[in-house]
Amino acid sequence: MYFSRNRYRVISIRFFLYAVILFSSYLCVSFYLMSESMNFTSKIRVQNITAIKLPNVVVHLDLKGFPPKLSYLKALLPTLQELGVTGLLIEYEDMFPYEGRLVNLSTKYAYNKTELKDFLQTVIHFGFDVIPLVQTFGHMEHVLKNKEFAHLRELPTQSNVICPSKSESRLLIRHMLEQIIKFHQSILPLKYFHIGADEVYHINKCKQCLQRHETNATIYLKHVKETTDFVKEISPQTTVLLWDDMLRKISIKDWGHAKNLRAEPVYWRYNMKEKISHAALYQYHKNFDDIWIASAFKGADGMTATLPIVQDRLSNHLDWMLLIQNYKFGGEVDTHSFKGIILTGWSRYFHGAPPCELLPVAIPSLYLNLLLIKKFREGHDMTNSHDTIDFFHKNLKDDLTEWLRCGETVDLDDIETKACSFNGDDLYKVIFNSDMIISHITYNMELILKYYTDDEYRQHNIQMYNKYLTDMWFLESKMKKVLARYYYDNLRMIHSGRPRQRKMITERSTRRSLGEALNY
Ligand SMILES: *[C@@H]1O[C@H](CO)[C@@H](O)[C@H](O)[C@H]1NC(C)=O
Ligand SMILES: *[C@@H]1O[C@H](CO)[C@@H](O)[C@H](O)[C@H]1NC(C)=O
Ligand SMILES: *[C@@H]1O[C@H](CO)[C@@H](O)[C@H](O)[C@H]1NC(C)=O
Ligand SMILES: *[C@@H]1O[C@H](CO)[C@@H](O)[C@H](O)[C@H]1NC(C)=O
Ligand SMILES: [Zn+2]
Repeated sequence: MYFSRNRYRVISIRFFLYAVILFSSYLCVSFYLMSESMNFTSKIRVQNITAIKLPNVVVHLDLKGFPPKLSYLKALLPTLQELGVTGLLIEYEDMFPYEGRLVNLSTKYAYNKTELKDFLQTVIHFGFDVIPLVQTFGHMEHVLKNKEFAHLRELPTQSNVICPSKSESRLLIRHMLEQIIKFHQSILPLKYFHIGADEVYHINKCKQCLQRHETNATIYLKHVKETTDFVKEISPQTTVLLWDDMLRKISIKDWGHAKNLRAEPVYWRYNMKEKISHAALYQYHKNFDDIWIASAFKGADGMTATLPIVQDRLSNHLDWMLLIQNYKFGGEVDTHSFKGIILTGWSRYFHGAPPCELLPVAIPSLYLNLLLIKKFREGHDMTNSHDTIDFFHKNLKDDLTEWLRCGETVDLDDIETKACSFNGDDLYKVIFNSDMIISHITYNMELILKYYTDDEYRQHNIQMYNKYLTDMWFLESKMKKVLARYYYDNLRMIHSGRPRQRKMITERSTRRSLGEALNY
């Protein structure tokens, strides 16, 4: 009895010891893993690397909302060249002058062929590749909203996705590609062509598609392959690009249909919060010749954003650079070299959406991120930092000040106060100030509606409203004047949209008075 109890005690002590050892090794391992992952996000380690190989740096011109004057775009070219840009991805949408049967795909304000040709010649003069982008599956609203093409929709009530199973759809896409490719080929050799193919929200919904008894992935891949083959047929030397988000979801068993897809995917990611799918990247690596990446210098901070959040845009680019500077696929010794980066600059989230940030006000963000990429490509010595802001202060602040030609050293959030002189500075100030004025007025209106509803305030409130009306008129005329420098005077592409209120705006606008803001 005594013996066995003793033995029991020995066993339980041993068990206890095992448990302690197990538990502490669990703690050690998880602490190690946690600190590793924390390190990755909280400390920016920039090795004094040999320059990263990233042959293409492409800026996206999204003309599907607020298309700028071509003279403005031309004026940007020399600086873009100096900042290391190698190409422009031009998303014409309805701004390309389609002809014949396709004439209704263009807005009546589309650029004409003469001015477009002149613009493209200037672009080539600076040595840029021109990469036209034509949506060929989803985001085809400017096509499918027309009566004569509405019957080609995948869903009768949705104008975004075309049905890939109808022969007429294929013919339509072929005609679009032919018109765009032939126009460009008469001016320049087309090294690259982008077929879009992102965000295809409705696949396999119409009767004809369902009758194929194929998976969504198969239908998607077959259509993309057919489109790629059209491009190759018209222009055999051209490399076809597509956005990767639909590919990212494809399960391994469906990848078979991608085997002879002669296209190169562009992995897009605009937000630090989204995790990179290394599994998808690995599939691309196995199935395609090359992989591109895409970031956003504007158009990723809210559907009705008025100014890009520069810090977030920088984080997006920095994050990509840190990822690719030492990216190795499993089992490979060499760092993988990605084919290029596309800095997207969205003008609208989709055809029917209100405009988001305008190009001129996103110039600081564009230049900043181009400077960052340039440093990585040239292999500059960069100082380790604990976050994006710290990195900016240590490695980019002086360059940005110089490239924006500012009177004093700029920070990420005080560009409007530093007497900068860049291509778009006046619009930047007007938009910044109008954001402040609008939030000031909104704030005060809310106060009035909440606390000053009694009759005794009536006269005072009317006075306030009138003052606000005057302020808004003043603002409108000022804004029209400045906008006319960048946009055609009919302001035709201005779709109404509520301006987004910037973060921190109320605090700032209460610090600076309204009069001060108006007299910037
Ligand atoms: C373009 O749209 C108009 C108005 O709906 C229509 O009358 C015209 O026939 C269309 N043009 C073509 C070429 O389909
Ligand atoms: C094309 O546009 C240019 C400049 O906007 C204009 O001067 C020219 O007359 C237009 N050409 C045609 C054929 O409409
Ligand atoms: C295929 O796509 C449709 C939407 O177009 C969706 O409802 C359906 O769940 C998808 N099927 C699979 C297997 O993902
Ligand atoms: C890092 O590289 C730069 C130029 O490539 C060089 O001037 C610098 O001395 C290097 N720094 C270190 C610490 O190796
Ligand atoms: Zn269909």
